[in-house]
Amino acid sequence: MKILMVCLGNICRSPLAEGIMKTKLSGEFFVDSAGTISMHEGEHPDKRAVKTASHHGIDISKQQSRPITNSDFENFDLIYCMDRKVYQDVMSKAPYEQKQKISLFLEANGSNSDTEVPDPYWGDMKDFEHVFQLLDNRCNTIAQQLMTEFSAIKNSK
Ligand code: 4NP
Repeated sequence: MKILMVCLGNICRSPLAEGIMKTKLSGEFFVDSAGTISMHEGEHPDKRAVKTASHHGIDISKQQSRPITNSDFENFDLIYCMDRKVYQDVMSKAPYEQKQKISLFLEANGSNSDTEVPDPYWGDMKDFEHVFQLLDNRCNTIAQQLMTEFSAIKNSK
């Protein structure tokens, strides 16, 4: 099962989401991240994202930004978008048959609150910590669901 986290620059939100999700899933899962723009291609995550993750015991410092590619739509089973603009951009790039893989990361998270992970790029460390908490909470729910579904599929074979 392959999961792709997507934001705009792939230096703040989706690298954090990738790092967090990797700590919650077993080895049968592969997690990666990408951006909708290539402006930061090859760069490591924003220092503030690296510091926030490190504060929680997660090392994202070696990740490198990359833009989403056409082959991602074939290669990944689930594609999670950090906000509505990213969702619209990813949906517009995806071939028709692959569109059902794409969803908003915070959608249907059991509350009526925000469905977007706010962009912390223009903010400060507090904004990064807030984003970390949003991502961490939602990753807990998604990881639990995925592992339950995955073991059910395995047991039925
Ligand atoms: P991200 O944050 O999408 O969470 O990686 C941003 C990174 C870079 C820019 C905007 C948002 N930028 O304008 O360069």
